[in-house]
Amino acid sequence: MPTITAEGKTFEVAEGTNLRQALLDQNIDLYSEGAKVFNCHGHGTCGTCVVSVEGDVSESTKLETARMAVPPHSAHKERRLACQVKVLGDVRVTKFDGYFGEGEQSVWTPDRGLVEASTSTVA
Ligand code: FES
Repeated sequence: MPTITAEGKTFEVAEGTNLRQALLDQNIDLYSEGAKVFNCHGHGTCGTCVVSVEGDVSESTKLETARMAVPPHSAHKERRLACQVKVLGDVRVTKFDGYFGEGEQSVWTPDRGLVEASTSTVA
């Protein structure tokens, strides 16, 4: 069975499992704080479930390719919409900052749990 490693957890799933559902089933923080409420629930349109995936997964769907071609994701076309990904082999997943996960800083990696966003004050 394929394994998923994300946010410091490793767990097995059936081949062909939807990545978004697998992450949510394990209480992994797939969405940013605001997107936890406002997301398309896996329909491939909101773009808030974006992650970086290493490993054997399904090819991008037309819907995913179209969504990833528009901002803020157009700068990171190598990232994937978790809701459109089927897990085919062992995978490692990283989530980035930003409402959509479009940022440059990882908020969690395969081996590291969630890092809360730092709060900065402007003097
Ligand atoms: S949950 Fe909206 S695009 Fe994946």
